[in-house]
Amino acid sequence: MHETLLPREFHGGRLRRLQLRDHRAFQIYRAIPELGRYQGWSPMSEAEALEFLDEMSRAPLFAVGQWVQLGIAEPDSDVLVGDIGLYLSDDGTTGEVGFTLQPSAQRRGIAALAVREALQLLFAATGVTRVLGITDARNLPSIRLLERLGFACVESREVVFRGEACTERVYALPRDDA
Ligand SMILES: CC(C)(COP(=O)(O)OP(=O)(O)OC[C@H]1O[C@@H](n2cnc3c(N)ncnc32)[C@H](O)[C@@H]1OP(=O)(O)O)[C@@H](O)C(=O)NCCC(=O)NCCS
Repeated sequence: MHETLLPREFHGGRLRRLQLRDHRAFQIYRAIPELGRYQGWSPMSEAEALEFLDEMSRAPLFAVGQWVQLGIAEPDSDVLVGDIGLYLSDDGTTGEVGFTLQPSAQRRGIAALAVREALQLLFAATGVTRVLGITDARNLPSIRLLERLGFACVESREVVFRGEACTERVYALPRDDA
């Protein structure tokens, strides 16, 4: 029902549905250890990646209690350079965002623009009153991106992630500040 909302073009990139044809690019950057260091996902086998991309190419925008993953692509070639996950809480009031960009596309402002497009999409298509971005306190590029988009830190909590004690920062962006 929300398919007319994608793709969304922005300066330097495109936010669009993930596709099966993205599997090579997706697998290459998702295998880079530094990119996954603070993330909830782990590298996938070839079969898992194909199944995931196929599922995400037609997953609903947006279903309560579900993540949907979208692609960030180069504007001319349409080659995949990253992805953004969007989550809608069970009660539909809160969103969450997660983001990954391959190293060669980083430090150009593309990730921030893509996340901004994704947030506009989430706010337009759902009734969420705020969106959360949860990040490790050591993940400075992620914190800089969230703060650049207007997110404010609302909580710091001590957690154990992959067997390691660490500090997690919860950032929030209210609907009216997006
Ligand atoms: C988090 C992540 C997406 C940020 O990528 P990024 O490219 O640094 O983010 P931005 O799009 O905000 O780009 C900002 C950088 O580009 C630079 N830049 C260059 N040209 C720019 C422009 N026209 N506009 C904005 N920034 C620009 C900025 O100076 C900034 O550099 P700085 O971080 O040294 O200050 C990336 O580091 C990543 O994929 N990390 C691994 C995955 C991860 O941990 N994700 C978060 C999980 S919660």
